[in-house]
Amino acid sequence: MQGNVRPETMERITTEELANAFIEEQIKELREQIGDKKVLLALSGGVDSSVVAALLIKAVGKQLVCVHVNHGLLRKGEPEQVIEVFRNQMDANLVYVDAVDRFLDKLAGVAEPEKKRKIIGAEFIRVFEEEARKQDGIEFLAQGTIYPDIIESDGVKAHHNVGGLPEDLQFELVEPLKLLYKDEVRVVGKALGLPDNMVYRQPFPGPGLGVRCLGAITRDRLEAVRESDAILREEFAKNGLEGKVWQYFTAVPDFRSVGVNDGKRTFAYPVIIRAVNTKDAMTATVEDVPFSLLQHITARITSEVEGVNRVLYDLTPKPSGTIEWE
Ligand code: XMP
Repeated sequence: MQGNVRPETMERITTEELANAFIEEQIKELREQIGDKKVLLALSGGVDSSVVAALLIKAVGKQLVCVHVNHGLLRKGEPEQVIEVFRNQMDANLVYVDAVDRFLDKLAGVAEPEKKRKIIGAEFIRVFEEEARKQDGIEFLAQGTIYPDIIESDGVKAHHNVGGLPEDLQFELVEPLKLLYKDEVRVVGKALGLPDNMVYRQPFPGPGLGVRCLGAITRDRLEAVRESDAILREEFAKNGLEGKVWQYFTAVPDFRSVGVNDGKRTFAYPVIIRAVNTKDAMTATVEDVPFSLLQHITARITSEVEGVNRVLYDLTPKPSGTIEWE
């Protein structure tokens, strides 16, 4: 498959059979392109990079070097799942980088949303660059670019490139998904044997929980975002909303309010729940979550999450709100 334009005649990959044909063709092309050289991939554990990894593992095995950077802003269980699926189950060459302290130190005291994004992006490139330099003989860089990233029509901010690597670290790109739409990537991922919760997961921004721990990130509020998000996801899954609602998450603002617990006054953070539906992320409507479920989630969050005494549900469509809070 050549070029960056999807041929009009290209059939949409909707079945396992079509996915298998795509996989076979890609394996052949990847082996031709890569030969006996090494390929580097930043593996976040998101759908696109995971599918690229699984494809490349099939095509070139240990010639693929996956780098998973844990920047401390991932959801609960994500780094563990990347290690379990790729290192333990698929026997991939996986470098796990614990960069949590490094990111949180850089972000300390920074409250401005775009500045936070810039720091996270720049630090990610730096960590990835350092890992790339430790590897000998890398000639290719794989990326989970998909078709909407190229045509920039779906409103989701492009996040699939490690652009910004220095001049002496320029590799030939390997982008096997660049003509696929997201739904096709999922069908291919499923055919490659990736777990459902990896293949069908909701969109997650590159800066991760960093844009949901509002204002200057602190470790206590970051933990509150991570734990409340895990409860929300668990309850949505249990109540049939996973896969139905397009994106749902929690955010924790940087102010506290007065509350009461066991007859004692508390002064703690609120958790904001957001659950939205959209086609292209340019506009969004709010999911009509059953009130009883919201009450149940509220009870769980306020009793299980440290430092939280209130839960709010965000009723704002986009516009006037954006999907994320920052
Ligand atoms: P907004 O908040 O702009 O979000 O309505 C639209 C979609 O984009 C995701 N998003 C991001 N994705 N890097 C990303 O990779 C980012 O900085 C970023 N900000 C927002 C958001 O989760 C939603 O799906």
